[in-house]
Amino acid sequence: MERLQKVIANSGYTSRRKAEELIKNGQVYVNGKLKTELGTKVNTSDEITVEGVTLNKVSNKEYYLLNKPRGYICSLDDEKGRKIVTELIDTKERIYPVGRLDYDTTGLLILTNDGNLANILMHPSNDITKTYIAKLEGILTMEEYFRLKDGIVIDGVKCVPKKVKIRKKTLETNTCMVEISIVEGRNHIIKKLFASVNHSVIKL
Ligand code: URA
Repeated sequence: MERLQKVIANSGYTSRRKAEELIKNGQVYVNGKLKTELGTKVNTSDEITVEGVTLNKVSNKEYYLLNKPRGYICSLDDEKGRKIVTELIDTKERIYPVGRLDYDTTGLLILTNDGNLANILMHPSNDITKTYIAKLEGILTMEEYFRLKDGIVIDGVKCVPKKVKIRKKTLETNTCMVEISIVEGRNHIIKKLFASVNHSVIKL
């Protein structure tokens, strides 16, 4: 339970001092009931209306950095009944992944219920770089490397990686490891980039 004026201020609606004035002036309702006392305590399930505006229910903000294993999808449910990443986290909050990693991709995934942070991280104008290490079938030629570096049109939109680096070539298995950094957040974008220079991704 928290004091009403604090909850209003934490929602970002206004300052705590202004919230106190609004309460005293009869502008605040909790679950449809007028509240004019500053001592009123509320909890996260209460519906708070200030000057006719209903505030988003306040919940505890949670942030997780998950090393996503293979065999999980980044979705809130799956019609095929596959396992979902949120099953790996023990919380009562409604958290969701920021961006997506494919079912067979492993690595760092951020999960949160903080919609504001999720929007900031995912919005392309914020230029957040994501780095992937891909194991490719076949060895990337210098010509293919430069095609990637110059950028490739995927589904009508050009994607220019921030960085492409061949980390390792293994002639015996005819594979190579490539590090690639991009700011895009499109589905399967890394697999599509490599597919367009004729390499399939064995591991990401
Ligand atoms: N691009 C892909 O192709 N797969 C991922 O999991 C992430 C980016």
